[in-house]
Amino acid sequence: MIDVNYIRQQFPILNRKVNGNPLVYFDNGATTQKPKRVIDSIVNYYSELNSNIHRGVHTLSREMTIEYENARIAVQKFINATYAHEIVFTKGTTDSINLVASSFSRAFLKPGDEIIVSEMEHHSNFLPWQNLRDEKGISMKVIPLTKEGELNMEAYKKLLSPKTKLVAIAHVSNSLGLVNPLEEIISEAKKHGAKVLIDGAQAVPHLRVDVQKLGADFYVFSMHKLYGPTGMGVLFAKEELLEAMPPYQYGGGIIKSVTIEKTEWADLPNKFEAGTPNIEGGPATKAALHFVNEVGMGNIAAYEHELLTYCSDQLGMIEEVEVYGNIKNKAGVISFNIKKTHPFDTGTLLDNMGIAVRTGHHCTQPLMRHLGIPGTVRASFAVYNTKEEIDIFINGVKKAVKMLL
Ligand code: ALA
Repeated sequence: MIDVNYIRQQFPILNRKVNGNPLVYFDNGATTQKPKRVIDSIVNYYSELNSNIHRGVHTLSREMTIEYENARIAVQKFINATYAHEIVFTKGTTDSINLVASSFSRAFLKPGDEIIVSEMEHHSNFLPWQNLRDEKGISMKVIPLTKEGELNMEAYKKLLSPKTKLVAIAHVSNSLGLVNPLEEIISEAKKHGAKVLIDGAQAVPHLRVDVQKLGADFYVFSMHKLYGPTGMGVLFAKEELLEAMPPYQYGGGIIKSVTIEKTEWADLPNKFEAGTPNIEGGPATKAALHFVNEVGMGNIAAYEHELLTYCSDQLGMIEEVEVYGNIKNKAGVISFNIKKTHPFDTGTLLDNMGIAVRTGHHCTQPLMRHLGIPGTVRASFAVYNTKEEIDIFINGVKKAVKMLL
């Protein structure tokens, strides 16, 4: 059970007004708001702990290194990874995927090998592979979508072959909220010996994720979509893969020894964390996961599902509105347009009413092309949203319909 009033009290920004109206924040797919404990952890870091980590014998550095490494353990537990050193901290989901594209390709791929992605991917899970295709002669196959925007699983199975080395797929579509059938995707890939990377950026805020149960080789996400700080990304990868992959970036902190002739890399995960990281992101990550665990991922999923159903039902009743990705298995996101209008116009009118939604192609131009539209209006939910806010939003959409049509 969720005590939404108690939850809302923890998010200071929810008290502000936008354009004279109480803020209704439905752009959680882009980034969530932060609870006070996350904000406080950053203030506390700069007030009490500021120092560089993994580098000093002095007290501040030692204390802060422990704090930072505790964040790694918190992430390990959150997604049930086997070891903390299978968690690499990056700048975000994009950085995590670029790391894999760079290091995995150098360790395992040769021209003629194949990678499979889908037509619904966020550009961050599309461009790194397209770039490998263009620069390294690796072939990129794309899973087509059904009319509703779901993966065409029969087509996927036909794309797989012994040449497939990696399948890179979103867990939840950022534009439509569709939950992909990961179990089947992964088991089919394994039949051909292919590795699987899951872009979990839009999944971890809404669903319980267990990477061991899932059996994915790589699972990536960003903390800022999970009530945490920007600049903290997670790359989970199986130990044996990280061991076999070369560093992504080169610099301080990734070595055991350096001579003019050669370098011996540090143990995992340090091999992949060159340079000074987003240090304050460590305690902030821990605080965000503390918040999520306190509310309970199961409670969050159930409550957000209620919000999504409530919103979809009402939006579906507005004749002038077209909803995209109309299937049952969705998480966190509803995407729509007022027919014959541009999403920016709807977004601007809603903003005037204090309602924040995202508009545009959501960094998924191939998907938008598939749907035959320039973009959508996207409402995406978090655990602090309420049915009352959805009522305000639905009234806002109705007003926008009157103004635009
Ligand atoms: N990738 C984020 C989104 O879908 C920013 O909004």
